[in-house]
Amino acid sequence: MKDIVLQRLKEDTSRYISGEVLSEMLGVSRTAIWKYINELKKDGYEIESSSKKGYKLISASDIINATEIGYNLGTRILAKKIEYFGVIDSTNNYAKQAAAEGCGDGTVIVAESQTSGRGRLGRAWDSAGKKGIWLSVVLRPSIAPEDIHLITLAASVAVVKAVKQATGIETGIKWPNDVVLGGKKVCGILTEMSSEMERVNFLVLGIGINVNHETEDFPEGLRDTAVSLASYADKNLDGAVCKTPFNRAYIIRTLLEELEKIYIKINEGSTEEIVEEWKKYSVTLGNEVRVTIKNNQYTGIARDITEDGKLIVSCSDGITREVISGEIMVRGILGYV
Ligand code: BTN
Repeated sequence: MKDIVLQRLKEDTSRYISGEVLSEMLGVSRTAIWKYINELKKDGYEIESSSKKGYKLISASDIINATEIGYNLGTRILAKKIEYFGVIDSTNNYAKQAAAEGCGDGTVIVAESQTSGRGRLGRAWDSAGKKGIWLSVVLRPSIAPEDIHLITLAASVAVVKAVKQATGIETGIKWPNDVVLGGKKVCGILTEMSSEMERVNFLVLGIGINVNHETEDFPEGLRDTAVSLASYADKNLDGAVCKTPFNRAYIIRTLLEELEKIYIKINEGSTEEIVEEWKKYSVTLGNEVRVTIKNNQYTGIARDITEDGKLIVSCSDGITREVISGEIMVRGILGYV
């Protein structure tokens, strides 16, 4: 009911809507309307109340609940269901549980902060409150388990496109799927899968984007390698390109829309396009990389990626290796490339 009150207020932010009209529309008392308005204010919505004129929405400052994300969202498959948490251990943990219990394809879990955010290769993911986008999407793709890393590549392409569209900022992709900005990491993607021999049961795509962090919001140990969209924009771009802080709900909507386009392509089997797009945004190809495979380290030049997403590295020992994500770490010799 609170969400319906919010929808009505959003429909016209130029004028007041009276408590009486709202109570008639919703079939509840004016006191109930007053209570919902107070709850919305507590959620962070700025609502002007006038005893004569009623209520008017002034701003929804950077709120990322299901109503905000779902408002004018142009997806058909993704985000039919959105679950929002103020605090959660990890959206990926919750999403895996929900997926195992049979939640629908495209279910989105989003949180304001995570107490045990997880990164790739068993690392922790710093998930400061109200600063970033921490979300997981449950997917049930019709592809073979061995092709699943294509989805991870595809997700990074979706992030790059969405960030450009929503903020004007151009990011790049460090293989396989770190999204980088000015030589630092701005987004990480953790893909987790449940599968049988030939069939994927579900996949959880966990995406973390540093959006409105100031440098001091990152733990000291991360400040040299992590960056947020806003801190980069404030230091490197003038206000004409983009205005900070960024509206996270808008970035999430744009991301879900981009993700859906790519998801449809994957389900249709048009994967070459994804690899080509990935190459377009890659900051790894052509650069020197260090590859760690089972405690052995090789340096080499990242030449290309294969149709199924493996990185081809000409190593300094003369051997050309095809590298699969998950097994290895690739680190640019000169930082995040
Ligand atoms: C990486 O190491 O680069 C991947 C980081 C992935 C972080 C996101 S935040 C939302 C989701 N929930 C998690 O616990 N991790 C992912």
